[in-house]
Amino acid sequence: MTSRFAAMEEGKEKEAAPVRMSKSGALPVRLLMVSLTFLLVGLGLCIASMFAVKYFGIQNQISVAPVAESNIRPCFDEPSSVSSWVNPLSNLLHNMNDSDLFWRASFVPRVKAYPFKRVPKIAFLFLTKGPLPLAPIWERFFKGHEGMYSIYLHSHPAYVADFPASSVFHQRQIPSQVAEWGVMSMCDAERRLLANALLDISNEWFILLSEACIPLQKFTVIYLYLSRSRHSFMGAFDEPGPYGRGRYDWNMAPEVNITDWRKGAQWFEVNRKLAVDMVADDVYYPKFKEFCRPACYVDEHYFQTMLSIQSPHLLANRSLTYVDWSRGGAHPATFGRGDVTEEFFRRISEGSTCVYNDQPSSLCFLFARKFAPSALEPLLNLTSKVFGF
Ligand SMILES: *[C@@H]1O[C@H](CO)[C@@H](O)[C@H](O)[C@H]1NC(C)=O
Ligand SMILES: *[C@@H]1O[C@H](CO)[C@@H](O)[C@H](O)[C@H]1NC(C)=O
Ligand SMILES: *[C@@H]1O[C@H](CO)[C@@H](O)[C@H](O)[C@H]1NC(C)=O
Ligand SMILES: *[C@@H]1O[C@H](CO)[C@@H](O)[C@H](O)[C@H]1NC(C)=O
Repeated sequence: MTSRFAAMEEGKEKEAAPVRMSKSGALPVRLLMVSLTFLLVGLGLCIASMFAVKYFGIQNQISVAPVAESNIRPCFDEPSSVSSWVNPLSNLLHNMNDSDLFWRASFVPRVKAYPFKRVPKIAFLFLTKGPLPLAPIWERFFKGHEGMYSIYLHSHPAYVADFPASSVFHQRQIPSQVAEWGVMSMCDAERRLLANALLDISNEWFILLSEACIPLQKFTVIYLYLSRSRHSFMGAFDEPGPYGRGRYDWNMAPEVNITDWRKGAQWFEVNRKLAVDMVADDVYYPKFKEFCRPACYVDEHYFQTMLSIQSPHLLANRSLTYVDWSRGGAHPATFGRGDVTEEFFRRISEGSTCVYNDQPSSLCFLFARKFAPSALEPLLNLTSKVFGF
């Protein structure tokens, strides 16, 4: 918008110049024409600025100017090309609130074929408090796979990330809000991550991760595993007893019956269809928001139950993220410097069997948590030998 205004101002100067010259020459017709041009340009400028104030004035007060600029461009580009729908936003810091964003993110094309070459990408959604102590592992993991992935960071809104321009995490923060464990603000943050990633039409698979997660396989293995899977991966099981069905509230019926109630870890991998469903849901969300409050931990039940009701046939009902609950207590084990050995990862990969595309498989986990910052050094020592990157 500013460049357009600048161009108009320049034109105005050029038009205005002959007026000054013609004063002595006394050419009324020419003067009239020039004045008229001047008037029209001024009128156009006036209308344009009224338009700008009406539509962008309020947002401009809240946000910084460069953000508003990126939002204005599509107004002029959209009618002439699909590029604004195809190309991801270069600046992730838009100024849509959640209602605007979720609405926009829920758009789904009905023509199956894409009118451009689409390379499906994996969206890595990092739900963090602040820094990413294990970032060097991820940098190594992503190296050489540009164009096959996108990264989104949701951290505490007060946290200012300072990744260097060479980092894959550089400027990948999305507008964030405070997210607290066990309450709806956590699911809101997950939906916010999904919605931002949905704005890039090439993102096809969506993986939720934390700052304590690491990849257990190289990128190409993970890419093939997801792209060939007939199911999305969401831990969802029906657990009797106080920590499962015991958290169900009868006020949730008839939308959610007790036989529909599911439990599972929040770390999911879903395809684009399910991601849209999660962002678009307005049937189950109000029920969970009102009736699943601690000691009902909503991030362990909401998406798990909702997707099990809506799309049970699309779910593998297991998570791809390895977690160790064997030490007991309310939180899973955290692995530090002393835990990270070749033997440790061999136990993870050999210790389980699962079902993949209705066949038994021994490759069950693509990611693992929770790793302390102290695990970074020994992990970097092992990645090429153990994970192949
Ligand atoms: C979101 O922003 C729109 C204007 O863009 C406003 O009309 C709407 O009320 C806002 N919604 C919420 C929940 O704040
Ligand atoms: C829950 O049960 C009621 C009555 O049996 C039924 O009408 C409703 O469809 C069920 N809800 C779901 C999500 O299956
Ligand atoms: C996952 O569980 C649902 C029931 O909630 C079931 O219908 C579906 O077949 C299960 N998926 C797999 C891959 O077994
Ligand atoms: C890294 O590996 C080398 C050689 O295998 C070993 O000597 C060194 O102690 C390891 N460092 C850490 C931090 O594990």
